[in-house]
Amino acid sequence: MGLHIGSIAPDFEQDSTDGKIKFHDFIGDQWVVLFSHPKDYTPVCTTELGRAAKLKDEFTKRNCKMIAVSVDTVEDHKGWVGDIEDTQSVKMNFPILADADRKVAKLYDMIHAEANDTLTVRSVFIIDSNKKIRAMVTYPASTGRNFAEILRVIDSLQLTDNHKLATPADWTDGGDCVVVPALSTDEAKQKFGEVRELRPYLRMVKQPAK
Ligand code: BEZ
Repeated sequence: MGLHIGSIAPDFEQDSTDGKIKFHDFIGDQWVVLFSHPKDYTPVCTTELGRAAKLKDEFTKRNCKMIAVSVDTVEDHKGWVGDIEDTQSVKMNFPILADADRKVAKLYDMIHAEANDTLTVRSVFIIDSNKKIRAMVTYPASTGRNFAEILRVIDSLQLTDNHKLATPADWTDGGDCVVVPALSTDEAKQKFGEVRELRPYLRMVKQPAK
């Protein structure tokens, strides 16, 4: 059965650069971004891991930690981490799963045979502290991910978990929000103050405190 938004993130045990990881224990009571890489010692992946490591404090602010997965061994990963640290001027600060047997890749459907039948595509799973998958994004191997966008999606999810709001196109934290259709305009006024009603179905409010 395929994974969907709302599915419980499948549990697994796999080796990593930080030792054996039991995934549900790793999640604990935090949010997690699990993201896959086609292979070690590849250029785009090297820049992605460096960028992610530099943004660790931003993920921590959101009670979120990162874990990467690549279909090579811990030994390979450790050699590659040296290159990432040298070339991207950063200290790696989250684990990389050593998925040489493709256990995680298969469990999370990260191998798209039409693209490549052995390497993983660039999958991103945003998982909440209840271990539910909240967002899934897939990129081809040739396109490095935008980690500011991943943070933006987490901001939106964490805001809209607490308020009957949604976030519009290109929203970033602090921007105006959309009132969900289930809320009447009177209720929205009570909750959020001023409501700009552009159409009965399109109502905007200032972002409340999270
Ligand atoms: C990369 O990470 O640079 C990469 C991996 C597979 C195909 C193309 C690029």
